[in-house]
Amino acid sequence: MSRAGDSDRLEVALECLSLPQTSGAARQILADVGFSLAPGEVGALIGPSGCGKTTLLRAIAGLVGVTQGRVRLPSGGRLGFVFQEPRLLPWRDVETNVRLAAPDANDGDLDAIFTALGLSDHRRDFPASLSLGLARRVAIARAFAIRPDILLLDEPFVSLDTALTLRLRQELMGLIEARSVTSLIVTHSVDEAIALADRVLILSSRPARLIADVPIPTPRRERDGSRIARVEVEIAGHLSAD
Ligand SMILES: Nc1ncnc2c1ncn2[C@@H]1O[C@H](COP(=O)(O)OP(=O)(O)OP(=O)(O)O)[C@@H](O)[C@H]1O
Ligand SMILES: [Mg+2]
Repeated sequence: MSRAGDSDRLEVALECLSLPQTSGAARQILADVGFSLAPGEVGALIGPSGCGKTTLLRAIAGLVGVTQGRVRLPSGGRLGFVFQEPRLLPWRDVETNVRLAAPDANDGDLDAIFTALGLSDHRRDFPASLSLGLARRVAIARAFAIRPDILLLDEPFVSLDTALTLRLRQELMGLIEARSVTSLIVTHSVDEAIALADRVLILSSRPARLIADVPIPTPRRERDGSRIARVEVEIAGHLSAD
């Protein structure tokens, strides 16, 4: 029986995902990963390096086939993907990079996104002249400009300094909350997962199984030191039990 609003959820029910290796043999990457996200809900995906987090995002995006099981996108199915590398077209300026991905975006929408991400002064810049932090913002702007029903982010702030990471997290959350976008963020930082997510999804080492789904009921703005510490202990327990 399906619940009311089910079609608006992201539903992931993966039983197996294998990929061919250069030897020709198949290697199982994902085993048993099942979860769903409600509209506007933010999930953080954490797990050991090489366990299959990027592969899971690619499977959700339909960039790689599922061997057994299924993925269902929220109704509308419009998907924004922020890859770990910004992947901008080097011969196009910032604004054109965004407009090419989102030809239907109106000027007001783009103005709002560029302003929220601090990119207004960089619309005519070319990717080669951008710092990594700016390029990451453009990748986020591009994903938002398409007005996604589901937003996937693969370690969007890796290798940025702490101050910039904190600022970009706030900007990202401002956009996600303003539009109530269902989002799944891969991160290696437990702090970041707790700061951003409504739920932390913990994967085992490869082949990845979902070993815990930890809800964070405290509203983001009220996540102070002691509350965060409690969830951190719980997550650390799951990670070390793997
Ligand atoms: N296109 C591919 N073909 C074959 N194997 C792949 C492919 N992409 C990834 N793999 C393998 O899948 C496994 C998981 O890789 P994946 O990139 O999903 O891990 P990850 O959890 O994102 O790691 P990290 O935290 O280091 O980014 C690795 O063993 C990797 O070698
Ligand atoms: Mg990865």
